[in-house]
Amino acid sequence: MRMKNCCVEYPVYEKEWLGISFDKLSVKPSFYDLATSEFYDAFYEKFLDKYSGFMDLPGDWLAAKRITAEYISGLLPDGAKVLSYGCGSGYVESLIASNRSDLRLTAFDFAEVASKFIENDSSVNIIKELDPKYKFNVIYINLYCMQLIFKDALNFLVRSVMIFWKMVAL
Ligand SMILES: C[S@@+](CC[C@H](N)C(=O)[O-])C[C@H]1O[C@@H](n2cnc3c(N)ncnc32)[C@H](O)[C@@H]1O
Repeated sequence: MRMKNCCVEYPVYEKEWLGISFDKLSVKPSFYDLATSEFYDAFYEKFLDKYSGFMDLPGDWLAAKRITAEYISGLLPDGAKVLSYGCGSGYVESLIASNRSDLRLTAFDFAEVASKFIENDSSVNIIKELDPKYKFNVIYINLYCMQLIFKDALNFLVRSVMIFWKMVAL
């Protein structure tokens, strides 16, 4: 957020994430449509070329995610079955799992290789497909997954969440 004259200016688009310029990706984002799984696959391909683990990532990004993880941890009831929808690299999930061994934490992302850094972390169950037979007490979701409102995924979420539920948009 930047101050300009008397107003607060919010950027409404971005050109890069984590030092990875969208110009360099094999799939370009659309100005009008939300990002597709193909776009995210192309992004994570570059991400994994550039970074070999969480500790390579920029310190301010890691710090912001630690705050997110702490916030979410504070919302989760004891022993909850939790789904992170759109987990990305899984850094937030690895932090939550390391502080909350009581949870059963599952992570999903439609980008194939997004969660590579946590693939050997036994405290987070990574799923590659959605199945309505999965049931969760809490599902938290990133706002970047908004397009699911128009897709079958919303159907999955509604059928998969149990009586106590909260949806947290980050
Ligand atoms: C900005 S990243 C955030 C990742 C992670 N939640 C975090 O806070 O670090 C958004 C993630 O949502 C995923 N995503 C976007 N739309 C999605 C959808 N419809 N279904 C599943 N994952 C989606 C992307 O692949 C990407 O990894």
